[in-house]
Amino acid sequence: MRTLLIAFGFCVISHSILAQPATQERLKSVQADAVAHKAAVEAGRKASFFCANCHGETGISKSPEVPNLAGQNPAYLLEQIRKFGSGERKDPFMQGLIKVLKDEERLQLALFYAAQPVPPAKADAGQAAKGKDVFAKLCARCHGEQARGNDLYPRLAGQNLAYLQTSITHYRDGTGIRSNQLMAIATAPLKNGDVVALSHYLAQLP
Ligand code: HEC
Ligand code: HEC
Repeated sequence: MRTLLIAFGFCVISHSILAQPATQERLKSVQADAVAHKAAVEAGRKASFFCANCHGETGISKSPEVPNLAGQNPAYLLEQIRKFGSGERKDPFMQGLIKVLKDEERLQLALFYAAQPVPPAKADAGQAAKGKDVFAKLCARCHGEQARGNDLYPRLAGQNLAYLQTSITHYRDGTGIRSNQLMAIATAPLKNGDVVALSHYLAQLP
């Protein structure tokens, strides 16, 4: 049953990545071309002036409940922008804002934030040690040993503590605010204490 659910989950994610094949394909071709990539990052920097009010000048956010975008996987950023646009991910402000962005601006913003460095943050050492074990058991196989993600999965290292806690809980509790089959399965066994420990561990990772 568990294997079946996981297999189903993989279909869902591959489907959701394919939901905007044109933009994701274009992202890959821009990434592969150094000159186009540099130009897109610069255009993204200009386009980000409004986003900076909450996400910070270089994607390090100004409040704990707003996610850092610095160093995030650009395919993931594009996918989340698409999800806000379609209403699959819910946040009243982000859903309204994303609608005014053109496809090319979305791509430039994703590449700009992905190119920004992630400074290390502080967290409780005891909680982090407990979180490290839970992460290795339940999360590392997708998000990577160092929680830096890859083409398919988001970076979690250095993310804001409060935002991590809220997001993990939203997936686990099936609120519909964030829906993803893989994350629903992965977070199902977590107790509230595990969520706190995981968030401390991830927030302080470089
Ligand atoms: C008024 C504050 C505010 C502004 C301005 C803002 N955002 Fe956000 N953004 C948020 C909040 C809050 C969330 C987290 C919502 C949640 O809890 O799921 C978010 C989430 C995101 C995410 C998902 C990140 C992740 O790790 O999943 C992306 C991508 C994003 N914003 C991009 C942008 C871009 C691009 C702009 C500018 C065009 C922008 N935001 C402007 C508040 C803001
Ligand atoms: C089978 C693969 C898989 C496993 C295992 C997994 N995740 Fe994820 N995770 C994903 C995917 C895919 C997403 C993006 C989902 C979406 O689009 O909302 C994600 C998103 C997230 C996010 C949102 C990041 C952001 O910037 O908003 C957090 C936080 C997260 N995972 C934490 C965890 C934790 C903690 C565990 C272990 C308990 C875990 N994940 C296990 C696949 C996985």
